[in-house]
Amino acid sequence: MQNFVFHNPTKILFGKGKVSSIGEETAVYGKNVLLVYGSGSIKKNGLYDQVIQSLSSTGAIISEHPGVQSNPILSHVQAGIQLAREKQCEVVCAVGGGSVIDEAKAICAGTTVQHDVWKFFTGKKSVKNPLPLTTVLTLAASGSEMNSGMVITNTETSQKFGFANKHLFPKTSILDPTVTCSVPADYTAYGAVDAIAHVLEFYFTSLDPYTPVQDRLMEGLVMNGMESCDRVLNKLDDYHARADLMWTATLALNGLTCAGLGKVGFPMHMIEHSLSAFYDVPHGAGLSAVIPGWLRFHADLGPARFAQFAERVFDIREGSVETKAEQGIKGLTAWFEKVGSPTSLTALGIPQADFPRIAENGMALAKVWRMKDYNEQKIEKILQECI
Ligand code: NZQ
Ligand code: ZN
Repeated sequence: MQNFVFHNPTKILFGKGKVSSIGEETAVYGKNVLLVYGSGSIKKNGLYDQVIQSLSSTGAIISEHPGVQSNPILSHVQAGIQLAREKQCEVVCAVGGGSVIDEAKAICAGTTVQHDVWKFFTGKKSVKNPLPLTTVLTLAASGSEMNSGMVITNTETSQKFGFANKHLFPKTSILDPTVTCSVPADYTAYGAVDAIAHVLEFYFTSLDPYTPVQDRLMEGLVMNGMESCDRVLNKLDDYHARADLMWTATLALNGLTCAGLGKVGFPMHMIEHSLSAFYDVPHGAGLSAVIPGWLRFHADLGPARFAQFAERVFDIREGSVETKAEQGIKGLTAWFEKVGSPTSLTALGIPQADFPRIAENGMALAKVWRMKDYNEQKIEKILQECI
């Protein structure tokens, strides 16, 4: 167990009917609200009306910034910052999935500074006093509702970069599983893959040889992610399955799993972000295409860890450490296929001829994330494992 500080200030209101609290939770931080949301799912499922009613009931003055796209882009963030300034917004309220919450965090950070918000993403500036943020989560996936990270694509440079800053935790996030019942099967699966990937990143990059507390927590989250996703795909409006998947995804990236692991990395995401930047693939779909290859590339470096994962998550008991490691990767890949998430770059239609530029793009992020054990050749080798 390594030394650590665990401090997560986000207040979570979890459960059926909790959306009606967004007004009073937001009013704590001001009357002038910037409401940020996506391309319309909240209007179709009735959530928009509930949120407007709750915000208005506290006398909020609401300016709307709709149109956040999946894999949110810098130019739309900049438009949101301009609107927040013009309307002198005091608080931002995000209603959506990870894309909406991430864009809202970037708006919070960029509204209170004079320099371009992209400087935060390239590590040239750090966040000091952003606007406060409240959220209503509508898709179980990113964990953005209870963490301080965000990911934005600069379409001019084709860079999808992310960073975290302790001032950017949402003040309050409302997690009502009911509002996720309208998420279609494909994005439900992509979200579960993303949540599982957040666990795998720490599980397979931790260098501490003995972390039984964190291991069991992470293995349990992977099992819950798969099991609750299966139940949801069986019945899209299964409230308890949606609740289990929602809380699993939040716990997967709120700092709890990596506390005590020491230095960990996010390499699968580093590679996936280039896929989403270039091809605009859904984040979870990009991850399921990269994870099997990344695991195969690394399995022989530490087969015991992979064998432990196979034994505890897939109950694989027979064979050598190497065989178990291989069976565990096969078990995870088979589950990705079962839920309809692509398991190769070929399935995403990404040609091998593009691998050099994907590797070059990934390295730009690896540099910002100070991933010293990566270079373009290594990324290309991993991409070859993902064909
Ligand atoms: O445009 P809207 O109306 O929001 O529709 C969305 C979008 O089309 C739709 N959707 C969301 N909730 C719905 C719904 N449709 C019906 N009913 C609902 N209740 O689903 C589509 C995908 O939404 P999106 O927000 O893009 O998905 P997700 O939550 O997976 O977020 C993906 C983004 O999160 C970032 C990714 O990079 C990606 O940009 N991540 C953020 C992280 C963080 N902040 O810590 C970490 C993650 O690794 C990830 O990188
Ligand atoms: Zn992710």
